[in-house]
Amino acid sequence: MSLELKAITKTFGSLTANDSINLKVETGQIHAILGENGAGKSTLMNIVYGLLRADSGEILIDGKKVEISEPSDALNVGIGMVHQHFMLIPVFTVAENIMLGHEKSSKFRVLDLDQARAAIRTISEDFGLQVDPDAVVETLPVGIQQKVEIIKALIYEAKVLILDEPTAVLTPQETDELLNTMRDLKSKGTSIIFITHKLREVRAVADQITIIRRGKVIGAVSPTTSEAELASMMVGRAVDLAPAKYQHETGGAILEVKNLTVRDALGTPIVKGVNFHVNSGEVLAVAGVQGNGQSELARALINLEEHIEGSILLDGKEIRGASIKDSLHAGIAFIPESRELDGVIGSFSIAENLILDLHGQAPYSKGINLSAKVVHSEAEKRVTEFDIRTQSIMDAVSTLSGGNKQKVVIARELSRPIKVLVASQPTRGLDVGSIEFVHERILAERDAGRGVILFSTELDEVMALADRIAVMYRGEILDIVHSNVTREELGLLMAGVTSAKAGA
Ligand SMILES: Nc1ncnc2c1ncn2[C@@H]1O[C@H](COP(=O)(O)OP(=O)(O)O)[C@@H](O)[C@H]1O
Ligand SMILES: [Mg+2]
Repeated sequence: MSLELKAITKTFGSLTANDSINLKVETGQIHAILGENGAGKSTLMNIVYGLLRADSGEILIDGKKVEISEPSDALNVGIGMVHQHFMLIPVFTVAENIMLGHEKSSKFRVLDLDQARAAIRTISEDFGLQVDPDAVVETLPVGIQQKVEIIKALIYEAKVLILDEPTAVLTPQETDELLNTMRDLKSKGTSIIFITHKLREVRAVADQITIIRRGKVIGAVSPTTSEAELASMMVGRAVDLAPAKYQHETGGAILEVKNLTVRDALGTPIVKGVNFHVNSGEVLAVAGVQGNGQSELARALINLEEHIEGSILLDGKEIRGASIKDSLHAGIAFIPESRELDGVIGSFSIAENLILDLHGQAPYSKGINLSAKVVHSEAEKRVTEFDIRTQSIMDAVSTLSGGNKQKVVIARELSRPIKVLVASQPTRGLDVGSIEFVHERILAERDAGRGVILFSTELDEVMALADRIAVMYRGEILDIVHSNVTREELGLLMAGVTSAKAGA
């Protein structure tokens, strides 16, 4: 089934999110849509899936115009969509979730549980998806939950499947599996619209790539186009994808972690007595598959976790047990994994978020009130220095794109005198332009003699930035290796295999 979009335009107030977009997805084609955060990709897909109405434009299926005003219309003409945030009910089984989904469609009336089970098995076999219909969704790894979403779409006989940033939540292995699933689907005639920021993935599976920038189609190119070219089409200027590795000075240990254990509320150890240090002028990456204790370890370094045992020496001084504020002011900059939860306060202005750490400090505040004038001039300075794209520093930070929110966090954290930067998944969900910016900042801190601890599940990022790499597995640091390891060796360590290579 082919899908064609003609002159789709959608505005939100004064913003044109989609500006007369033309796009054609051929039958059995994997069509990638590339674009920076805020380019208008999800808006366009939500229009195709009936979650939003276009102001103007047409949607054609196999050359015939169709009206799609709600998701059931899309399902009925054969369009399925897997959202970035899954819509599954965690405590229900796979089959129960699939049954529930069916209530939405007019064409496929509610199945009973046995029918749902049988349908899942058939589809699992047909497309090699291997999902147990009776498994409870919350017990399944993210990669499998995503397969459940794909099965849901396939049960509706989706002939065009939209995947909106499907690899953002996956490990490298799960990503490879998804790419294989996409190839299988394509070989059975399913058309796929694949949205991602990751150039490597696009070039690996796409037949055709459409690049969108600021709501407009910039070009449609073949997957043989170089990564550098794709990136520059996306952001509208040349982008340096791999910061050059060069020799740099490394000093002595600036942060030492000894026997650090972090427990959850029930007393179960999530981080199990880890030991490591980072030198000044060095990037130590902590790699691993998501969920092996990295998040908790990162948070523990600024005492953001509640149950911490062991020792954290910053420049020789114990900071374990200090308040979060004191940990930060002792000289740690913290880029949290969750910008929304720990990085910014959405309802506060950009200006306020930029100086959150300075509440109670002269010259910004007198008593408990912030001095508006000083705050404004400092905020304006940081907005310029860190290239934060905003209309006004008085806008709520929640109005910013992910990349710009991250810049707010980074601007705030790097504007204090610091000794160590702890960066947790600092580029997750960001576009290439913003990733380049974050990487440059991290290396600039390293070159200024700060110790950097980079927690990242992105192998490319780890290999590009790290001097040494610590691999976490089930709460322990399995090994610390020199950054000249191969992807394969790292992959094995991440899977818990230690016989691979001696430490550095
Ligand atoms: N419901 C909405 N109301 C107002 N603005 C929106 C809405 N949805 C998206 N936008 C804006 O439209 C632009 C495109 O957003 P989106 O389609 O989500 O981009 P992408 O998926 O490419 O990151 C952004 O500037 C975003 O802030
Ligand atoms: Mg999007």
